[in-house]
Amino acid sequence: MAPLSSTSVLVGTNMEMPIIGIGTWQATDDEVLVAVDAALEIGYRHIDTAAVYENEFGIGKVLKKWFDSGKLKREEVFVTTKCNLSHFRPEHIEKSLNESLTKLQLDYVDLFLAHSPVGVQYKDEGLPMAPNGDVLVDLNTDIIANWKTMEMMVDKGKAKAIGLSNFNQSQVKRILDAARIKPANNQVELYVYLQQPELVEFCKENGVTIVAYDLISSTKTKSFQTKRPVPDEIVIQYPMEDDTVVSIAQKHNKTPAQVILRFLIQYGVAVIPKSTNPKRVQENFNIFDFELSKDEYDQLKALDKGEAGRQFVSRRNSPYAKHAEYPYPKMSS
Ligand SMILES: NC(=O)c1ccc[n+]([C@@H]2O[C@H](COP(=O)([O-])OP(=O)(O)OC[C@H]3O[C@@H](n4cnc5c(N)ncnc54)[C@H](OP(=O)(O)O)[C@@H]3O)[C@@H](O)[C@H]2O)c1
Repeated sequence: MAPLSSTSVLVGTNMEMPIIGIGTWQATDDEVLVAVDAALEIGYRHIDTAAVYENEFGIGKVLKKWFDSGKLKREEVFVTTKCNLSHFRPEHIEKSLNESLTKLQLDYVDLFLAHSPVGVQYKDEGLPMAPNGDVLVDLNTDIIANWKTMEMMVDKGKAKAIGLSNFNQSQVKRILDAARIKPANNQVELYVYLQQPELVEFCKENGVTIVAYDLISSTKTKSFQTKRPVPDEIVIQYPMEDDTVVSIAQKHNKTPAQVILRFLIQYGVAVIPKSTNPKRVQENFNIFDFELSKDEYDQLKALDKGEAGRQFVSRRNSPYAKHAEYPYPKMSS
């Protein structure tokens, strides 16, 4: 049996979330059968998925196999899922969670996230699209009313904790001010070129854990570009090829990905690198046997480019940008 990940962060008042989890966006049901199984063998005890990733069914199959074999108990693995973007309104949130639980073959998830403060129009399956290919945004998303419904999911025992994703600082504050159950977490794009220090500090002060996504930077990957051409205004950036990252990696005999992940956990955020390749799943987990010195940490800290580092979202001409809750600074057309 592989050792458990020794490091975890507190989520909410009394729950621990392993500081590293396996990300699963862009992994199919078939791919997660291999990747999540490998991750559990390696020692990952935290799985990140979402209704829109369309892979909860595969993850559920792997979890059932591990639970049935007795190698793992339900309470030993931390499972996060996110509300379907097209169900982000009070009357559909529970339906989204129920569907996720059925696919995952679970009675509860550890963490249920609002995937984005911007909902899209209701559709039973898949995302609603306009004839021009734009997603049909729901301009009436009410993040406070939705939060109240998410709190009920905790009351009903369907989620141990609830949280946010892609919420900016003022949106997190509005939820904190209105909440009966505080958000445990905010999952955001965060990596060496986009470190979001104010958001991280604000969340830390208010007991909201940050989970970093797009942390090794999938935006540059071929699959992403094939599925969704990268808009012109996004300058694709390559942190794994950054001279500073590469030279620190060489000094520690580690890979650039390992240095990036190690930096993020020393920065105080949890990480959910995605890989469907068992060798890279292992590589991404091997970050607990070295430490960055203060000087190395400071060099990586200095790589932050602020908003110029944001690359996951298209901000010009994005249908999401028309929404009052669009969380990012807008760019002019
Ligand atoms: N809340 C949100 O809105 C949101 C948005 C995006 C992502 N997420 C979550 O965050 C997770 C991570 O983000 P992400 O998937 O966008 O990006 P990521 O984990 O930074 O990068 C994944 C990409 O890097 C490759 N990769 C993984 N490990 C590597 C390594 N050691 N060396 C070289 N390449 C490596 C993967 O390819 P291989 O698979 O071929 O290894 C994949 O193409 C997602 O999977 C998802 O669970 C959440």
